[in-house]
Amino acid sequence: MKVLVIGGGGREHSLCWKLAQSKDLEKLYCAPGNAGISEQAECLAVSAEDVDGLVRAAKEKKVDLAVVGPEAPLVAGIKERMEREGILVFGPGQKAAELEGSKAWSKEFLWKYKIPTAWFEVFTDADQARKFIREKGAPIVVKADGLAAGKGVVVAGRVEEAEQAVEEMMVQKCFGPAGCRVVIEECLVGEEASFIGISDGQNFLAMASSQDHKRVFDNDLGPNTGGMGAYSPAPVIDAQMFQEAIAAVMLPTIQGMKQEGREYRGALYAGLMITREGPKVLEYNCRFGDPETQPLLFRLKSDLLPFLAASAQGSLKGMNFEWHPEPAVCVVMASGGYPGSYQKGLEISGIEKANQLDRTYVFHSGTAKKDGKVVTSGGRVLGVTSRGKDIPSAIQAAYQAVSLIKFSGAHYRTDIGKKALQHLKG
Ligand code: AMP
Ligand code: GLY
Repeated sequence: MKVLVIGGGGREHSLCWKLAQSKDLEKLYCAPGNAGISEQAECLAVSAEDVDGLVRAAKEKKVDLAVVGPEAPLVAGIKERMEREGILVFGPGQKAAELEGSKAWSKEFLWKYKIPTAWFEVFTDADQARKFIREKGAPIVVKADGLAAGKGVVVAGRVEEAEQAVEEMMVQKCFGPAGCRVVIEECLVGEEASFIGISDGQNFLAMASSQDHKRVFDNDLGPNTGGMGAYSPAPVIDAQMFQEAIAAVMLPTIQGMKQEGREYRGALYAGLMITREGPKVLEYNCRFGDPETQPLLFRLKSDLLPFLAASAQGSLKGMNFEWHPEPAVCVVMASGGYPGSYQKGLEISGIEKANQLDRTYVFHSGTAKKDGKVVTSGGRVLGVTSRGKDIPSAIQAAYQAVSLIKFSGAHYRTDIGKKALQHLKG
């Protein structure tokens, strides 16, 4: 098969790294890719948002299957566009991608199909939103309806904070049209985990559990980021919780989408809050997680390509993933200043040395090649990933690899995996 991976972050590097090992692979392309991806795939200079350009490139290269990393091209309808040209797509169609594309729509969906989630109301009028906040009191959560690059959520500890969020989203329109509608919802208490799997519209195949670290600083302090590290499996999801998440969340989602006439194929990611009453959905993503995909694929024994193709073709029934029992940990190294502004073009050293360590691989996120050297080109730069016989060993191996890698201003969390250790202590 000729495969085109769309995107250029750490998630896409792990997808390319894994697909490059497939027995069914004839040729691998990635658009736009990054410096690390160019080791495994031919990179095409087309942005992941340029749907016209991607369709043109896929046709020209006679691609059989396009694997879409980020949500934006899915929400823009790339599946329909590619499939009109006879190219299979791993990922949901435009109407199914609304699970991520519109928080208001996905909340109504969750409610309709009785999938556990926080109570909520949707508002298009700022005064009514403020009134509701005052009635309900704090803590309370305010979310911009549309895509806001992961920054459209305010978990407000005080009523004034929630009202301020309404002012910024609805009146000052700091996220543009994405904030014209807001969702105001119950603040859930518990531990977050990522539940990711793939569907062919009918069947759902769960991947191993994982957990992200969204805040920029240790101990979950500081602003939200795209994710500063991840590990798999996540002990907060024990065997019983795993089955409950499938039965109460993932299967009803796939079935509900079918009933809505929005058949869901591709990766489905539920951000869960593990509460005392069980798992509750915080959000859906219509794609694999980044950085969760890095430790997940580093643990996957099975050949990934047949699974992605079967999801696109509707033939997942009877297939099962096989996992390395060893846990994996991924530590993200970020540019100085991230998630705020940062410099690009800084030389990175030590990646090769780190890659020589046992059961370790350095996935690239924001990197580029300049004069034959690898330089920084994004906020999240590398996802240093290791397996170990247990979580402490995987953590130690990943941080040993991190210590070998240098670039000016690099920062990373030093507590990736700490929550897992707390569970193991009991
Ligand atoms: P989202 O983009 O919806 O995942 O929200 C970003 C982050 O905000 C989540 O990862 C949670 O940490 C937090 N969050 C979102 N919704 C809630 C909620 N209802 N209760 C508590 N925390 C929330
Ligand atoms: N790691 C969070 C996400 O992919 O949305």
